Parts: sequence; structure tokens; C-alpha cells
Amino acid sequence: MREAANIVEVASEFTALKRQGTNYTGLCPYHQEKTPSFSVSPEKNFYYCFGCSKGGDAIYKTLAVATAYYHKYLLKSPAAAEARQYLKDRGFEQSTIEEFRLGYAPSRERSGFMQAARKVDLDRGALEAAGLLSQRGGERFVDRVMFPISDRRGRIVGFGARALGDAKPKYLNSPETELFNKRSLLYGFPQVAEAVRKEGAALVVEGYTDVLMLYQSGIKNAVATLGTAMTEQHLKTLSGHADRIYLLFDPDEAGEKAVEKAAVTAAELKLDLRVLRLPEDPADWLLEHASGEFLDLLSEAVPILEYSIRRIAGQVRGAGATSRARAVPEVKALVRQIEDPVLHREALRLAAEALDVNPEALRSEPDSRNAAGRSSSDGPRRRAPSDPLIEAGREVLAIVLARPGLASGALQAGMKVPGLMDEPVVLGNGDFADETHARIFASLVEHAEDPGAVLSDERARPLMDEISALRAAGEKLYPSEASLRAAWFRLAALSREKAKLLTDDFDEKFRLHAEIKRLNAAAVEASNLTLES
Ligand code: UTP
Ligand code: MN
Repeated sequence: MREAANIVEVASEFTALKRQGTNYTGLCPYHQEKTPSFSVSPEKNFYYCFGCSKGGDAIYKTLAVATAYYHKYLLKSPAAAEARQYLKDRGFEQSTIEEFRLGYAPSRERSGFMQAARKVDLDRGALEAAGLLSQRGGERFVDRVMFPISDRRGRIVGFGARALGDAKPKYLNSPETELFNKRSLLYGFPQVAEAVRKEGAALVVEGYTDVLMLYQSGIKNAVATLGTAMTEQHLKTLSGHADRIYLLFDPDEAGEKAVEKAAVTAAELKLDLRVLRLPEDPADWLLEHASGEFLDLLSEAVPILEYSIRRIAGQVRGAGATSRARAVPEVKALVRQIEDPVLHREALRLAAEALDVNPEALRSEPDSRNAAGRSSSDGPRRRAPSDPLIEAGREVLAIVLARPGLASGALQAGMKVPGLMDEPVVLGNGDFADETHARIFASLVEHAEDPGAVLSDERARPLMDEISALRAAGEKLYPSEASLRAAWFRLAALSREKAKLLTDDFDEKFRLHAEIKRLNAAAVEASNLTLES
């Protein structure tokens, strides 16, 4: 690299970078991570990953060089004027084009990437392996707008390439390989991951262009599948970062089937999945409407369960009782998969209403429900009954992680109980019976001034799966100041209960006993407040 500024440009081909002071940071392209530890310093002309230190292999290098080539060609070449005009006509801004590294692959008359690759010593083998050659051995991508596609670590793994006109196919994609796996890739993921985490929600749309148009309209948490229906793997990827997912889709038969499957996966992953059918593609819709209107539409998305049940019921609407009865097993199977008792009851009610049958007809006998739903190896699993002390610790962490701002004071100085206790109630790692919980709490205390920072703490990375699960659980607990207080005091009481059992110092037992009584009273008072609000 000759000029210092180059390093950022080159690194941007591998991973989406964000400016942070004088440096740039992003998800490390060389190892799997959820929080950015890859840092690029233009000043020092140097990059470094705080999580690992290795470099990529030939395929990545090739794809990165190709991305840079197509991107520059789009921005600079006189031969790309038509492509630039095309993107402009469709309403894409320069900043979007740059952030997503859109490009243009030259037409046949021009020398293309193969020529350029030769100059930088990329051999045919590398081009072949990177999926850049056609079956006949020529350029694969010719006269198309290039959409680089990254995996979730930010490494470019292939391209979607759109024809400028009506040429078929409209989009030509990189060939399917282990690296370029459409069932797991999500277009735009590295660019939007942070917004997804921040919102706790993600939108899944169908087109590359939809992601871009949403992004530049300020809705920065959308990803697209790559022309396939949403899979379990897509949902798993997203569930690590968000607990609410909006699925925006075209209602064709394949789409509906995918929605049904997604309903099951969402229940297993405890994801709040909502679906929305749109009048047209978001990219087109947004050309005529404001983003605020889009958010209004989004707020009408239907919880997947309700959607699925209504859809099945819709198919037999108006039919006679016999036909409606025929839909019962299908609906029953759907309802049976719902483990949460509240949701389960709600689903029964919905289904009975939609099918106009007696709820009893939909209720599975406890035994068959067990056999068919609960104990099957691929069905939702029920957690083993667990220690109340562990549960209380889980609840505190879940609420704190869902609303870190609420807990800052308590993490620093304990929770005050005016009128009942002289000293604020301080929790320590030792109050958490589960070791992982104790480590998460320790990390929160370290970041007491800004507990939300735990989410980007490198050292907390091994805990991130558990942290995400806790956050998701916290959302369902109606996190509030009162619910945090109630959980905090409950845990303190239970932990002292255990200490009381273990100590054989009678004075200590006595002191703990009195303290537990006050803590329980404080917990009850706080949870009464949660009921009122
Ligand atoms: P669409 O046909 O809806 O295209 O396909 P689009 O995304 O709206 O594109 P524009 O706005 O017309 O340019 C949705 C997605 O299906 C895949 C692509 O991933 C596309 O984004 N697709 C579509 C293909 O892979 N090949 C095709 O020929 C068409
Ligand atoms: Mn479309």
C-alpha cells in the first residue's frame, strides 16, 4: 500500500467499516465474531484484529479485488455511464452505492476483470474458485450492476448481478458453493448488524434493492434472502442479534410454505416473528412514500402464529362444517407446537374463532400432546424444573440486559429500600447460583456506568449467546424500574436464604432471617407496583 488512505479502502472490500475516532472498526473478516474487533488505522497504515491475527486466503482476496474493480469501474469509467444513470433513475444515492460497494461489470467489448486480474497476479484457478468464470471459461458477469454479498463476518463471498435492461436472467448470482450458500446468507447483514442489535429487530425482505432503499430511507435494519425463501439458518443467524423479526414477503405458494416452517422455528428460538404482505416491493413503494408511512405499515405486521392460523382458516372460510372440520388437524398440529401456556391458550382461542368450532375440538389430550409435541427430538424442549435461586438470578439479568439504563445506579451502589432498610441492597457475583450468570453480572458491574456496553465488550464475547437469550427473555418480562426492583430483592432474599441454611453461626442466622423478611416485603411492594402500572 503506497498511500495511507488506501488501507481503509482495501479493508472495506473485506468488511463493513465504521469510523471510530481516527480508526475504523468492523467485524473481523478472518474469524467469526458478533462484536467488531477488527480495527484499521489509516495513520499507521495498519490493520489489526483484537480477536485473532490471520490473513485470508486466495478466494477472499480474489473476491475483494473483484469488488474493488467493479466498484471503481462503476464510479469512474466512461463506459459505466449507463449503469450510473440506471442506478440514479432507480433512486439510489451515491452514499448507498459506496456503502454497499455496488459495482458494474463491463460489457463484452471492453476488457473486463480477467485482464485486470492478470495484472495483479491472480491466476485462473483463483478466478474459477471465486466463481467469477462462466462455464465456457469467460467472464461470468458481463454488463451487469454488481451487488457484493458478504457472509455474516463481513467477508465478501459472492455477487448478485442485475441486468440493466430486460435481459434474462434479471439477476445472475455467484455459483452455489460452501462459501456462497444461499440458504444461510443474508444480503446486507454486516452493514446492518449494528442497527439490528440496537433495535432488537430485523426486517427480512426479498430483494437486494429493497435493502438498499430501506437503508437510505433511514430503516437500517433490513436484510434480504438471496432469492430463496427464509430458512431456519437465516432465522438462527438473526436470532443472535434480534428477538423480533419482520418478514416482508410476496404471498405465493412457496412463500406461504416457508412462513409455515418459519412459525415452528420461531417458536423454538423464542423469536417474535411477524409477517407483512406488501402491496409492492419496498424499493418501489419507498419511491412514492415517506419512511414514516412505511413504519406505520410495519406496525400492522401480524404475529406469525395468528397469521398461520388465519391463513388455514381462510382456506375453509364459508365452507360447510365438514370442510372446516377437515382443517382441524392441521390447525391442531400448529397449536400443539406452542409451548408457552399463555400463547397456547391464545392460539386455541384464535383457531376456534377462525374455524368456528368448539375450542375443545382443538385441544389435544395431554398424553397425545406429550407424545406428538413435547418429547419428540425435534420439537420444542421444555426446560427441566430448576432451582428458584437460579431462576431469580436469570430474571435479574434478563431485565437488566433488556433495559441496561435502568440498572446503572443499582449496579454501582445497590438498590435503596427507603423506610425498610438502612443500607442499599447490593448484589454480588456470589448471589448468582449459575456460574455463567455470575460472570455476566460481574461484567455488568464492571460497566456499571453504562451497562449496555457489555454488549460490545470483547471479553464478554464468550457469554454473548447467553446474553442474547437473556435479553430476549427480559423483553417478555415487562422490564421496568418496578420489575427490576422486585427481581433484585427476590434474588437477594433467596440468596440470603441459602446463606442462612449454610451458616452455623446463630447470630448470623438471626440477622439473615430479619433481613430476608424485609427483602421479601420490599419485593412484594415492588411487584405490586408492576401490577398497577
Ligand atoms: P425480484 O424479481 O423481486 O427482484 O427478485 P428485485 O429484488 O425486486 O429487483 P429489482 O428491484 O427488480 O431490481 C427478488 C430477489 O430474487 C432473486 C434476487 O435475490 C432478487 O433480489 N432473484 C430474482 C434472482 O436471484 N434471480 C432472478 O433472476 C430474479
Ligand atoms: Mn422485487
